[in-house]
Amino acid sequence: RETKLQIVLTCSSTWLNLHLIVLMVLCVFLQGMAFSLEERLQLGIHGLLPPCFINQDVQLLRVTLENIIKMDLPLRKESKQYVFLMGLQDRNEKLFYRVLLSDVERFMPIIYTPTVGLACQQYGLIFRKPRGLFITIHDRGHIASVLQNWPEKDIRAVCVTDGERILGLGDLGCYGMGIPVGKLALYTACGGMPPQQCLPVMLDVGTDNETLLKDPLYIGLRHKRVRGQAYDDLLDEFMKAVSDRYGMDCLIQFEDFANVNAFRLLTKYRNQYCTFNDDIQGTAAVAVAGLLAALRITKSKMCDHTIVFQGAGEAAMGIAELITMAMEKEGLAKDECLKKIWMVDSKGLIVKGRDHLTHEKERFAHDHPHMKKLEDVIQELKPTAIIGVAAVAGAFSEQIIRDMASFNERPIIFALSNPTSKAECTAEQCYTLTEGRGIFASGSPFDPVTLPDGRMFYPGQGNNAYIFPGVGLGITACAIQHVTEEIFLTAAEALAHLVTEKDLAEGRLYPPLSSIRDVSLKLAVKIMEYAYEHNLATLRPEPSDKQAHIHSLCYSTDYDEFVVDSYRWPEDSMVVQSCKL
Ligand SMILES: *[C@@H]1O[C@H](CO)[C@@H](O)[C@H](O)[C@H]1NC(C)=O
Repeated sequence: RETKLQIVLTCSSTWLNLHLIVLMVLCVFLQGMAFSLEERLQLGIHGLLPPCFINQDVQLLRVTLENIIKMDLPLRKESKQYVFLMGLQDRNEKLFYRVLLSDVERFMPIIYTPTVGLACQQYGLIFRKPRGLFITIHDRGHIASVLQNWPEKDIRAVCVTDGERILGLGDLGCYGMGIPVGKLALYTACGGMPPQQCLPVMLDVGTDNETLLKDPLYIGLRHKRVRGQAYDDLLDEFMKAVSDRYGMDCLIQFEDFANVNAFRLLTKYRNQYCTFNDDIQGTAAVAVAGLLAALRITKSKMCDHTIVFQGAGEAAMGIAELITMAMEKEGLAKDECLKKIWMVDSKGLIVKGRDHLTHEKERFAHDHPHMKKLEDVIQELKPTAIIGVAAVAGAFSEQIIRDMASFNERPIIFALSNPTSKAECTAEQCYTLTEGRGIFASGSPFDPVTLPDGRMFYPGQGNNAYIFPGVGLGITACAIQHVTEEIFLTAAEALAHLVTEKDLAEGRLYPPLSSIRDVSLKLAVKIMEYAYEHNLATLRPEPSDKQAHIHSLCYSTDYDEFVVDSYRWPEDSMVVQSCKL
């Protein structure tokens, strides 16, 4: 009932709409996923609930399993923190964001990597109340009407996943909804985008995860993933429906799609819609920002480096692409840039003529004998930087780190896989084995490391949250309609520029997370400037003071003043009576 009241108070729609929303919220609370398809359609709540129809017996199982039987299992602490914060987001949104901002370093890892990964794995168990919009493969032909069920009309940013590759955890199907929900919470917390302008979407096409198909608590469609033409049609229709309803400048962020679809969809839609893929482009910008900061330590240029990737998936390709652009900007010819980048996938070093080479991998295949083991590759190529993005825990062995330290005065070692359990090496291993010479960044957070000699290092967390909220804010603030690769290079350069000499001296390659709101605003201003210079912005007239313009769009966690005047309760109403009491 409290939530119902909160919605009544914060909603500025007409009374009719209000009435409907109250009805809808009530319904969702009353029966949850027990509503049949027909009831969902009649009540206009189709899409607001996860696709699975769950009867009261299963609801009973969820409640008893979670609240009573599994109460004291060891993994419970993190997911309890997650459940608590999500509950707060439902009850008092402004306070939720105030809490996040009060200590970003502490709270971000709960609604984002690593805890969100754990939460997604147990999404069925910890499920309380749906968040975001669920669109299934069976909604084909009707996506526009599913979007109509979403109560907000002015959406500026959509984050969408199909749950096939959640972090490094694999196919979590509909349980992956935690990811877009968490990402968009960061758009608001870090980038200041108003939460009502953000829409998390799960495109449920099924799951190939047997565990989930057998899980009685699973909230998604209980069949194998639908692929091929039907899948593509769903995506086409979705992109069009979103742009029709919210405008061509509504940003659509792709998140945690499997490789096969991620590249394909990015290539297909990037020139048609306002879209980007955070796993490819966002990750790339953060990693390249880290490299640019590392160059300030090594006092070298990007094209002085030879870089080996452990992994050749979305993140690797995105990073490599952006590194190439940065090298080209330094004046090196494209072909030469590509030659400085090597990749190792699950079959070993990627070389010309090898089997299993996709179109993307082909670009980084060089003339070289094939080698299977990463250790051998490192010894042979003697790179200056290694970047791990394959979610193979411990892939940077002691041997590899020692070798890197023997070839290089300041070896660059980035263990970017998420969550923490998938990191290629720990911060401690890197600093210890390189006697503090290693320049380290990770994807998930690591605690500071003190070496036996007393020197202290603060590992840089190459957190995508440094980039996507600021990029999203910049894009939406001036209505950019196509997100170019240069926007990400601009963001990376701006981010690296914000790292102070003092940060660098302590091993930090990124500004402190506590300054992330400020970082995002600065990135957004840079992106706006770039966009107007290069004719990408469609907002006219061009705001003369871009910073002020961005500030004016930002969400504030202060409570709005409640304008009693417009309500005028009748003198004899209960409210007025009780106020008098
Ligand atoms: C299947 O789902 C479970 C439970 O969410 C998860 O822990 C596991 O990693 C998934 N497995 C694969 C192969 O995707």
